[in-house]
Amino acid sequence: MRSRTAIAVAVAALAAPAMAGAGPARAEGDKALGEYLSSECVTCHQITGHYEGIPPIVGWPDATFIAIMDEYRSKKRSNPIMQTIAGRLSAAEVASLAAYFGSLPHQQAK
Ligand code: HEC
Repeated sequence: MRSRTAIAVAVAALAAPAMAGAGPARAEGDKALGEYLSSECVTCHQITGHYEGIPPIVGWPDATFIAIMDEYRSKKRSNPIMQTIAGRLSAAEVASLAAYFGSLPHQQAK
């Protein structure tokens, strides 16, 4: 019984990232989808907009954000981590991330 539950939880956890790409929200620039997808990004990028070894990505115009992600996708920008991350995202997902991160303010504390 117990182990069955554990397996079900593990399977659900594994399935979640795959479902992100196939979710219902295909609309361009869906902020809610962007917020959902951002959980991965903010393990490295500070949501406050502070620079802590990794550049901040909040508060940019959508077009700027999308252009930069495209540069990683096309490998014009050379960072392998971001190439991999950007390469996994659809254009609609990048637009959604742009809408979400673009809506966040730089927090001036510190
Ligand atoms: C494993 C850590 C890590 C994760 C996760 C990560 N990034 Fe990055 N990101 C970096 C690093 C390091 C750089 C700087 C790379 C460089 O110098 O080109 C960067 C750069 C960027 C830049 C360009 C910043 C600038 O000022 O030029 C953008 C935009 C960006 N990331 C967006 C994202 C998004 C969106 C996600 C989530 C889908 C994400 N990143 C997830 C580490 C990460």
